[in-house]
Amino acid sequence: MNLIERAKETAVWLQQKLGEGIETAIILGSGLGDLADDIRDAVRIPYKDIPYFPVSTAIGHKGNLVCGMLGNKKVLAMQGRFHYYEGYMMQEVTFPIRVFSFYGIKHLIVSNAAGGMNPDYHVGDLMIIKDHINLMPNPLIGQNMEELGPRFPDMTRAYDPEMIKMAEEVARELEIKIHKGVYVGSTGPTFETPAEYKYFSAIGGDVCGMSTVPEVITARHAGIRIFGMSVVSNEAYTFGEDYKNDGEDVLIEGKKAAVKMTAIVKGLINRL
Ligand code: HPA
Repeated sequence: MNLIERAKETAVWLQQKLGEGIETAIILGSGLGDLADDIRDAVRIPYKDIPYFPVSTAIGHKGNLVCGMLGNKKVLAMQGRFHYYEGYMMQEVTFPIRVFSFYGIKHLIVSNAAGGMNPDYHVGDLMIIKDHINLMPNPLIGQNMEELGPRFPDMTRAYDPEMIKMAEEVARELEIKIHKGVYVGSTGPTFETPAEYKYFSAIGGDVCGMSTVPEVITARHAGIRIFGMSVVSNEAYTFGEDYKNDGEDVLIEGKKAAVKMTAIVKGLINRL
């Protein structure tokens, strides 16, 4: 069975299980899975029970699809995602997006924990992703399936300007400080060397991470509108004697910032 057939079958399976008419999906990044606890009347489906879904292995990623009410809308939330560094092929990393597309999702909200390279950014800060730089293999490499989207997708406004504006309004109303910047996506799993952080910053990045970009590219290909947010989990610009990176810290800072992120996501969803 090819990718389209598999994704369609999974979408139909989900429609039978959860009903139709859900238009918003959310991907929760490292340490940010707690947002799903705010989903009311939740139906939780482990990835291992979903046809053709990969199973997530990354630490801090739970591996459930959670469906229910968030704010005033019914949503589908991925508690845990698939990373390229785990050894999945890009088609597997982005398979859920293909499923969402066939399911009828119109808006995708993506989140991640990221290293802050902009010296104005501090641990626990939030950043609206206004653009990205892709340093991973492009998930659309290979024969293009016209049914899924165009051969050469436009990436000029990959992050939906209207959704950005709405989220900024929400942040202002809630008096939550929020940055807006560029996410650099690289494969990992190593954290960057100081020279690499400086390089990512020099080419225009404000934060960097090991996820999000493949899903965003695939969602753009499918014509889904995207909003992205990063939580700054480490300050990658001083490199003093005691500077070091640690995967556990990423999760801890994600958890702390999840409350602010949840408030903004809810506010945004209410306005969609
Ligand atoms: N680099 C890459 N990915 C990350 C980082 C980082 O510094 N922090 C959290 N995810």
